[in-house]
Amino acid sequence: MSRPRIVCVVGTRPDAIKSAPVVLELKKWEAVETVLVATGQHREMLDQALDTFGLKPDHDLAIMKHGQSLAEITTRCLEGLDRLFTQSPPDYVIAQGDTTTTFCSSLAAFYRRIPFGHVEAGLRTPTVDDPFPEEFNRRASGLIATHHFAPTAWAAKNLLNEGKDTATVFVTGNTGIDAVLAVAEREPQTWLSDHPHDVILLTTHRRENWGQPQQRIAEAAREIIDAHPDLRLVVPMHRNPQVRELLQRVLGNHPRVDLIEPPEYPKFVKLMQRSKLILTDSGGVQEEAPAFGIPVLVLRETTERPEGVDVGTARLVGTDKELIIKTANELFSNPEAYDRMARAESPYGDGKAAARVRSVVLSSLRIETEQVKMWA
Ligand code: UD1
Ligand code: UDP
Repeated sequence: MSRPRIVCVVGTRPDAIKSAPVVLELKKWEAVETVLVATGQHREMLDQALDTFGLKPDHDLAIMKHGQSLAEITTRCLEGLDRLFTQSPPDYVIAQGDTTTTFCSSLAAFYRRIPFGHVEAGLRTPTVDDPFPEEFNRRASGLIATHHFAPTAWAAKNLLNEGKDTATVFVTGNTGIDAVLAVAEREPQTWLSDHPHDVILLTTHRRENWGQPQQRIAEAAREIIDAHPDLRLVVPMHRNPQVRELLQRVLGNHPRVDLIEPPEYPKFVKLMQRSKLILTDSGGVQEEAPAFGIPVLVLRETTERPEGVDVGTARLVGTDKELIIKTANELFSNPEAYDRMARAESPYGDGKAAARVRSVVLSSLRIETEQVKMWA
């Protein structure tokens, strides 16, 4: 008799990083066949993230084009996944988060009536178009999901408030915390350790920040660096040409600004640990930095991750240039305010989320497995 086939779908860098612990966990169980499918929504950044975990996709749809539109990603992912699901029907499909790859995985599974497990379920903002298009993607994936793996109690509550059946909602912690803790432990090298300056780390890539908001973010970062000769700004540039062009224009040719190619995940983790302050519009970075006690300024108008703001590790500063500068300066001049942020406890997970996901998925396929107590 053939083994139940579980298909895990990834497309972007964060999909790979947050799905890797789940894929590796499932692969330990020989009673199921675990298949890794890449849509290739990202190329270099996806491959780089998968390499970190020694993972190679069993199938790769290789859909990425420069300047791809949301409709193009959606069409190509959906057609490619449907073709695969027809050739070798899965018994269960898993994807994480809020990317267009994730939304298409849920839809492709729904159309073929295959159970779908949504990892990092239940994050919400009040408006469906902010962040764009991620808020739509995760709400739509949640509409279809058989199991909702909520990273926190707050995310689970959002799902229950929407009327999801309690028996389908599980608080697992975020699988990204499994990944970051494992990688931080195994990477011995502290990147930039010989640098005399304190480091501010900046990442920005969100669609809703393209153009003017990103211009204000970059100008704010430049002014902060100009005002502090003891600081160095390190900016790993997302591969999107539009984002890179702007960063290079505003921040290029500054003696204490390093515009760098995106470091592979372990190096990036060490860079986070080495930073005094992180400025970011990234979802994943917002979750990872508090695990190391690094204060974060969130460069977005809303966040679907309020837990960090609530416990005090993050501050939501949006893209207002003056507010970004003022908040950073306050932290540099007020050690007590800085220490309060650095000491707050990380609210996003305990590093055992993937085992919890595995125990629910395998049980639903009637595979005998060790049951793992949920996080909350
Ligand atoms: C996507 C996700 C976003 C996630 C982000 C993580 C959607 C709609 N957006 O946004 O939720 O936060 O990934 O980084 O799912 N590119 C490359 N090489 C790469 C990756 C990207 O050249 O490895 C360039 C291409 O020109 C591509 C462009 O970046 O067309 C944008 O990529 P895309 O996946 O459409 O959007 P992101 O902004 O990366
Ligand atoms: N990351 C990385 N190298 C970089 C920038 C980010 O490995 O140069 C990692 C980061 O630690 C996190 C993930 O990529 O795990 C976040 O990806 P991104 O910010 O692109 O997406 P988001 O989380 O906003 O969807």
